[in-house]
Amino acid sequence: MIIRNINLTNFRNYGRLDLEVGPSVNVIYGNNAQGKTNIIEAISVGSSVISHRTSKDKEMIKFGENEYIIDLKCHDEVYNSDVDLQACYFTEKSFLNDKKTAGRKLSHDGMVIPKISKYMGVCNTVIFAPEDLSIVKGQPAARRKYLNLLICKVSPSYYDVLGRTRRIIDQKNACLKSFKGRFDKNRENELEYWDFSLADLSAYLIMERFRYCELISRKASAHHSVISDGKENLKVGYSTITGSEGVIRGILTDSDMFDQFIDGTLSEGILAQIKGSLSDYILTKLRSERISDVERGVYGNGVHRDDLDISLNALPMRQYSSQGQQRSAALALKLAELEILRDKTKSSPILLLDDVFSELDEGRRVSLLSGMNTAQIFITCTDRAFVENELSSIVTMDIDTRFFRVESGTVFCE
Ligand SMILES: Nc1ncnc2c1ncn2[C@@H]1O[C@H](COP(=O)(O)OP(=O)(O)O)[C@@H](O)[C@H]1O
Ligand SMILES: [Mg+2]
Repeated sequence: MIIRNINLTNFRNYGRLDLEVGPSVNVIYGNNAQGKTNIIEAISVGSSVISHRTSKDKEMIKFGENEYIIDLKCHDEVYNSDVDLQACYFTEKSFLNDKKTAGRKLSHDGMVIPKISKYMGVCNTVIFAPEDLSIVKGQPAARRKYLNLLICKVSPSYYDVLGRTRRIIDQKNACLKSFKGRFDKNRENELEYWDFSLADLSAYLIMERFRYCELISRKASAHHSVISDGKENLKVGYSTITGSEGVIRGILTDSDMFDQFIDGTLSEGILAQIKGSLSDYILTKLRSERISDVERGVYGNGVHRDDLDISLNALPMRQYSSQGQQRSAALALKLAELEILRDKTKSSPILLLDDVFSELDEGRRVSLLSGMNTAQIFITCTDRAFVENELSSIVTMDIDTRFFRVESGTVFCE
């Protein structure tokens, strides 16, 4: 998939923007705070709904306005067809709004798509940005976001399960609070009701997360080894409800079967067996933790607390690695995301490089762009000449590179 045209209304500092972009490399340059990242963010939100900078859609609406509209006119080279994607977000005051509540509207070829999961995955992008560092050194939420977004792009139904799980956790928490810190045996059936659904949904999420963590670990480790000249060993482990991993490994003792599970070719029967055992295990665990959950008034040990254990030479990276090692690991993790997405969807995602190109050394730039000759790429930078020069040594000369200069929310094609 490539984007041919980006049309923005009231997105960040763009009142209106109508931009024809090239099918290969697009370099967006200009001074700081002019609106370069805003374009990258708009492409990312227009394709996968989620911003890499904020979880509050309202922040992306131009100051003083009531809605943003992102229109992406895309072309699917495999089917040789045009695809129009539109993502809007509006406040209660917007003209787009007939319900008088803030909300989102997504359309695909003019048809309203009621579910985010049905919109995601049509046009895939992978963004490399300074914020990626938070995957390695930030809070668990940053790592969950990285993992969730990757899985959603490959299998959008995961997004629906994630949403259902969040709602049930909220309801379970409301229920726990209503106990006011004192366990009441007569009301235990209320918790049993939530826990029963939660065990089933968590089993699905844990299986998917386990698989993707293993895939990420294998691929990121290979990339990191190249970046560090084979000196460092990067590993990504999955940390979830205690014991769940053991349930999965306990069934997949055969290494071929384990690999089939990881690459998604394991038989339905064995998958159902794993899911059943996991779900039973989790339900037992939830029951055993009920009294402490009631006392705390909040559900503690669940998939909403999942994390990735990222280690370098067996030491946890958050505490023990240097800034440079963290940067390399973040790049390796994003390269793993790119590769997994490319393998699983059989097409090249659009690459969005926000402010990272100039920071990478030559070897890392090559690992990023090698094999991407057919992909569409957007690069933001402040120094056009530097990027132009560096690109010419990596990307073959016959690739069409276009330059766009950004100045206070106006884009000039050069
Ligand atoms: N919701 C918004 N409405 C209007 N302007 C915004 C909004 N959000 C950010 N901006 C403006 O966008 C500019 C930053 O744009 P950005 O794309 O991040 O800059 P850069 O060119 O450095 O990447 C700032 O001037 C900021 O004030
Ligand atoms: Mg920027």
